[in-house]
Amino acid sequence: MSGYSGCDPSEYKSRGADFVILSHNMQLIRSHSPAMHYAMMKSLHPASLLLLAAFTLPASAALPAGDAKAGKASFRICVSCHQTGPAARAGFGPPLYQVVGRKAGSVPDFAYSSAMKNAGFVWTDEKLLAFMRAPGEVVPGNKMRFYGISNEQQLANILAYLRQQD
Ligand code: HEC
Repeated sequence: MSGYSGCDPSEYKSRGADFVILSHNMQLIRSHSPAMHYAMMKSLHPASLLLLAAFTLPASAALPAGDAKAGKASFRICVSCHQTGPAARAGFGPPLYQVVGRKAGSVPDFAYSSAMKNAGFVWTDEKLLAFMRAPGEVVPGNKMRFYGISNEQQLANILAYLRQQD
């Protein structure tokens, strides 16, 4: 894969597992499949499992570097409802120009759900990523009908694109 940034979550995961297994059994076992992971985890001491969890956690926090240009292309999954850029107007969804740092549900001429209007937070990178992953978990009862994005690279790209519009 070109453009490898060293932040691939799966790489972190296997590195973490290798480290734990190495320190516990004093031998290097490379983990290749979820089934092997499971088999190895079963043979590990509970304390190692905690360690394994600790090493696995950063994987979800680590995000690949975002590419705004690719993000612009990916933003096409949002454009049926959202506009961005300085001339953005409300459509089916609120305009997303300068959304980072903006209070959720605060564009004056958009009829938000009360859930969004009363969300009570400011859009940060983290909030936006979480919302794009699972809108209903971040603002329960909101009216954005969107299934969510699970591809971390795509998420990072869209965020970079939205930030570029600041
Ligand atoms: C099917 C239409 C639709 C799609 C597709 C969609 N949205 Fe939305 N979005 C909405 C609606 C409607 C709201 C207002 C929700 C409410 O008021 O509860 C919203 C709200 C938002 C908000 C809150 C904005 C604010 O002013 O507080 C953000 C951020 C957002 N969407 C981002 C996105 C992104 C990024 C995508 C693409 C990955 C996307 N949305 C895709 C309809 C959509």
